[in-house]
Amino acid sequence: MKVLLVNGGPHQDGCTNLALKEVAKTLQKNEIETEIIWLGVKPISGCIGCNTCLKNDNKCFMEDEVNKFIEKVKDADGFVFGSPVHFAGASGQITSFLDRVFYGRGNLFAGKAYASVVSCRRGGASAAFDQLNKYALMSNMYVIGSSYWNQIHGNNKEEAMKDLEGLQTMRNLGENIAYFLKCVNFARQNGIKRAEYEETIRTNFIR
Ligand SMILES: Cc1cc2nc3c(=O)[nH]c(=O)nc-3n(C[C@H](O)[C@H](O)[C@H](O)COP(=O)(O)O)c2cc1C
Repeated sequence: MKVLLVNGGPHQDGCTNLALKEVAKTLQKNEIETEIIWLGVKPISGCIGCNTCLKNDNKCFMEDEVNKFIEKVKDADGFVFGSPVHFAGASGQITSFLDRVFYGRGNLFAGKAYASVVSCRRGGASAAFDQLNKYALMSNMYVIGSSYWNQIHGNNKEEAMKDLEGLQTMRNLGENIAYFLKCVNFARQNGIKRAEYEETIRTNFIR
């Protein structure tokens, strides 16, 4: 079993990474493979709605972190998306990335585990957390929680390391993801079928 953890912050070794590493350590303790992916600081374009990817085996015409990530999705059982809070929302980097990763790709993610984590100095964590969870909640994914909303506080890694409750929240999140994945694995091995979904009915709000 494998979980991909994505750091959508500008600091490779900052607060978001610290939170993700705490989740990853707990997953590894539970014998779950992990990979932390940093999106870097090169700008990632948002989705331009051209729909090319829908006709092109999910590949975006822009060659960047998005296509590299999509290649890995099929072999992963769960995902943790991490972002610093920027103006009470998720970072522009991860917003652009996730818009393109999830556009029209519910089928790739359905039935898998999803969690988000956010880091902030002081405020806006729950708004950013809500924003990140929205991708999963319309993709037939299972959103995993913890003993508090998945957030850590600090302006830099050293400060965040002092947020003992934040770090504990990340470890508990790791435990919950691990338990969920073990249950899914057990279900699969014992013939319990995945949820079956109806063909999507799309009703646009037009008269
Ligand atoms: C552009 C920008 C906007 C920010 N906006 C907020 C904010 O709205 N609320 C807050 O508490 N911290 C804000 N911060 C601080 C970061 O969220 C905080 O330092 C975070 O933990 C850094 O994580 P990182 O080391 O992974 O980048 C902002 C930082 C930047 C660079």
